[in-house]
Amino acid sequence: MDSIKHAVELARSAEHGARIVDGHSVVPQGNAPDALREIRLNPAHLDTNRIVAYGGISGQPGRYYDMLRTQVLQEMDKKGWQFLAVTSPTPGCGKTVTACNLAMSIARLPERSVLLVDLDLRKPTLATYFGFKPEHGVTDVLEGQGALSSAIVQTAIGPTKMLVLPGSTTSHNSSEWMASQTMATLLERIKRDFRSRTVIFDLPPMLLGDDVISILPRMDAVLLIAAVGSTSVADIKECQKHLQRTPVVRVVVNKTAVAAEGYYGYGYY
Ligand SMILES: Nc1ncnc2c1ncn2[C@@H]1O[C@H](COP(=O)(O)OP(=O)(O)OP(=O)(O)O)[C@@H](O)[C@H]1O
Ligand SMILES: [Mg+2]
Repeated sequence: MDSIKHAVELARSAEHGARIVDGHSVVPQGNAPDALREIRLNPAHLDTNRIVAYGGISGQPGRYYDMLRTQVLQEMDKKGWQFLAVTSPTPGCGKTVTACNLAMSIARLPERSVLLVDLDLRKPTLATYFGFKPEHGVTDVLEGQGALSSAIVQTAIGPTKMLVLPGSTTSHNSSEWMASQTMATLLERIKRDFRSRTVIFDLPPMLLGDDVISILPRMDAVLLIAAVGSTSVADIKECQKHLQRTPVVRVVVNKTAVAAEGYYGYGYY
């Protein structure tokens, strides 16, 4: 019942175009308000977690993500898309690493801004990869335990800033949350409050449950990550069945053996 009540409250604030929630100012289009918690990221921690697209001295592998960024943005701009889902057929293909790097690469562009959202409700890892402890996560927001504005943090490294909505685990069934009206209302609100930003969602694997299938209709496009050695053709075909109505902007083949060019072997199609 609490979640229904919370959904109604979220919907009501959306109807009224509210910019204040639970006493916190909500992020106005594109710019972070002073109220947001800012976290400076540690380059050594990022490197350890293969997040390299921040343009530091180890920026060379990041150029692969910059190329992916350009292609993804061209496609998204052409179609007027804002919401990009990052998923894979099976676990461990590199979704979170790719989502973090792509988001950071986009955030480095002076005229672009990004919100990166952890929608892996079973196993949220974004905050760990970035090296911070969230006060609240997506599930807290869904459950009415925390305001959206207190869950979103502004991460910063050098001059690059990016908003991150970290995840938090749920004691409830994650696929029920994914399919819920509360989630729909939260996504509508994100779409409205962050309309000048590209919003990237780090999702769970597609074939592990129905979490991704539930949320796909709310996404504009999908970036599908496959991994050499762990993704089979049958897995990709199985995913295709669920991707009839949501366009796949690119398929990244991760963990390829072209490591001679750097430790980041991947290609995209
Ligand atoms: N291109 C790559 N080359 C080598 N290792 C990689 C590459 N990309 C990711 N990894 C490693 O693979 C592991 C899984 O990566 P990641 O957490 O991004 O996958 P995931 O698809 O998000 O996993 P999960 O399904 O558990 O959420 C991590 O240890 C990561 O460092
Ligand atoms: Mg992941």
